Parts: sequence; structure tokens; C-alpha cells
Amino acid sequence: MFNPCSRAMKLVACVCGLALVACALALENGLMRTPPMGWLAWERFRCNTDCKIDPQNCISERLFMDMADRLADDGWKELGYVYVNIDDCWMAKQRDASGQLVPDPERFPRGIKALADYVHSRGLKMGIYGDLGTYTCGGYPGTTLDQIEQDALTFAHWGVDMLKLDGCYSSEDEQAQGYPRMTKALNMTGRPIAYSCSWPAYQGGLPPKVNYTLLGNICNLWRNYGDIQDSWDSVLAILDWYSENQDVLQAVAGPGHWNDPDMLIIGNFGLSFEQSRSQMALWTVLAAPLLMSNDLRMLSQSAKEILQNKLMIKINQDPLGIQGRMILKEKSHIEVFLRPLSHSASALVFFSRRTDMPYRYTTSLARLNFTENAVYEAQDVYSGNIISGLAPEHNFTVIVNPSGVVMWYLYPTMYLEQPLNFVRQQSSMKGFHPLVL
Ligand code: GLA
Repeated sequence: MFNPCSRAMKLVACVCGLALVACALALENGLMRTPPMGWLAWERFRCNTDCKIDPQNCISERLFMDMADRLADDGWKELGYVYVNIDDCWMAKQRDASGQLVPDPERFPRGIKALADYVHSRGLKMGIYGDLGTYTCGGYPGTTLDQIEQDALTFAHWGVDMLKLDGCYSSEDEQAQGYPRMTKALNMTGRPIAYSCSWPAYQGGLPPKVNYTLLGNICNLWRNYGDIQDSWDSVLAILDWYSENQDVLQAVAGPGHWNDPDMLIIGNFGLSFEQSRSQMALWTVLAAPLLMSNDLRMLSQSAKEILQNKLMIKINQDPLGIQGRMILKEKSHIEVFLRPLSHSASALVFFSRRTDMPYRYTTSLARLNFTENAVYEAQDVYSGNIISGLAPEHNFTVIVNPSGVVMWYLYPTMYLEQPLNFVRQQSSMKGFHPLVL
């Protein structure tokens, strides 16, 4: 009899009970120890397939090669933005005779493997999109339960580095079977392929329906809320949902498994300068993936500066991987967010929900729960200014523009001389316990 626990399965861990033989899946690809960074087509380029009318912007190999060139040539790659990710509408409407997914032959004439080769030749990684169900959300061929292994092998053969698996046109039961089954199928290909699961977004995003312990073991990141659109309202809706549910969400994020509040829309049409700075700061504090969906060929200097801010990226990529949270919501409509970082540092974001004029917000570190008897220094992440000599009980004032942020990288000066690996601050999360395998 086939006993899954007796087989030497390198990448799939098994737990054998006496009466019951259970196989607990684990995504042991070692990937995404920090949130992924790169570019994803969907928000900006959608399902634009008309290459006759719009050859520059349609979903085609040209678009992805252009974006790969920009990431490689315009300073993005060095900062960590390495994923070039295809979203929906890349496929032909039918699988081929052997049941394999094929790209649209006119828009991807050289095939996905050639595109992945190109992306790799530029020192980048390539992501692709599939959907667990009969169709993708855009109506292209989906991956039904019986096709999971075949599609995983196809993606691995093409040299794909990341898979976003959407969940349109499938039942709850199919999703419950299919998402873990894809983890196993990806593991079995032998190619490290990061796995982004849209499953929780189809379950309302919250326990008890969503089992975040399981997700953390089978997916590297997951969407759990609605799609971002090119508007400030959309950013706020996502942010508010994350804040309302932060007790659940903060605890489940960490190295290798991240909440994904969806793409960065900085550089498009819907956000003002202040709002763009806010999305970047807030996503960074949430330890969110930094997947831009914009047109890298025509980005304003200010959008580029926001997205390429080195201190911001260092904070987003902090190795502790602790997701931040809103710690204070003032009557003045200032919200304060905090993310604990390595080396006893913290990121603080003072975010204005006001709509009148720049607001002078006065507070103290003590009021923000800094109880340590220490002197702190902060660097303003956008201006680069250093604010020193901050004792917890001292009041300070930040001026926050409407729908804007002031963001600080804060550290106790008394620890400055400590060895770099000195970590004092512990996660305040209630505890994320991976399945004991
Ligand atoms: C869903 C996803 C989006 C995008 C579209 C593509 O709506 O949530 O991110 O992938 O499908 O059709």
C-alpha cells in the first residue's frame, strides 16, 4: 500500500499518527524571507489584449521585456525590485492538445520560456498568474484540481520563479483541496517557485473561515482583501480593513509568509504626491510586498524617488519581518503606526486623515509606549533630517500634511555602539506557531 510517510519526500513533511496517516504540507522553499519586491502588471495594464490598437500597453512579451529593461537599467534591481510578474490574460483561450497551458501566440510569439530566459538574462525573476478553477477571473483557462500537477510542471519547465494562484470559478471545497495541492505540486517540481495564494480573499479574509496557520505553511504570501484600484479611496479601504483586523493579521506575517494588501499604485493617476508617500510608508510598516503596478517607462521623478527611497526599503526589508500596526488613533484624525525593527529600532508613521491643512501634531515617545529609559534619535525617512536627543517624556511636534505622512526611523542612541546583531525588541504579536510537523 502506498504510505506517504514512508516515502522519502525531501520537501514535504509528514506526520504519521497511529490510526490516521496524515501528511502535513509545508512550503519549504526557503523563499521570501523578506517581502517580495518587483513589478506586477494587473492594476496598471489589466486585461488589455488589443495589441493592434495599443501595442505599447497590451499584455504581450514586449510589455514584460520593457519592464524588465526598466527594472534592470533604472536602478530598481539593485534596490531589490527583482520580480517581473505577469497577471491575467496572458493565455490562449484554449489549452493545447496535450492539455498544457499555452500563451497567446500573437502576443507571446516566442513563448513564456523565452520570456523567462530574457528576464533572467537581465538578472531578474519572473512571475506568472494562474487560477484555481474552471476559468481565470478574466475568462482564460483555469487550473482545475486534476490539472494542478501538470500546470506546476509547465511553470517549472518554463523557468517561472513565482506563481500567483487566483480563485475565480472554484468552490470552497475545491479551494480547500487545490491550494495545498499546488504547494505540494510546486515542491515536487524541484524548482523554487514562490507561491502567492488568493485563497483567503475568497473566504472573506478572516478566521474562522481562513486558517492562517495553514496558509503560513503553504503559501509565501496571500491576498486577503479586495483588489486595489487607482484611487485614494481604494488605498484607504484596504488600510482600514488591515487596521480593523490587525490583531489577526499582524500575528500571521513573518519571514517566508506575508499578508499582501495588493500592489503599489504610485506613479499612476489616482494618488497625489502626499498620498503616494503615504501608500509607500504604510505598506512598508505593514511589511507588505512592494509590487509596483505602474508604467516604469514613464514615471515622474517624484514617484521614482518615493519608490526608490533606500531607508524606506531597508525598513520594508527588515530581517525580523514583523508586521507593524496602528498604535494610536487620535481625535485630531492623526493615526500613528509602529513597526518594530532589528537592532532595537522602530519605524513610526504619523498619518493624517485630515482634509484641511498641515497639522502640527504634538506627542512624546512615552505617549507612544516607549518606556525605556533611553535617549533616542530619529531619521525622517523622506527628508533625511536627523532628530536627536529625544527622551521619552519630551514632547515633540511633527507637521503632517493632509492625507500625508511623516515617517521616522527611530533608534535608541544608547544602543548605537552595540554590535550590529544586538536585538532587544521582541515581537509583540501573540505568537505565530507554525504547524509542528
Ligand atoms: C482578481 C485578482 C486581481 C487580478 C484579477 C485578474 O480580481 O484579485 O489581482 O489578478 O483577478 O483577472
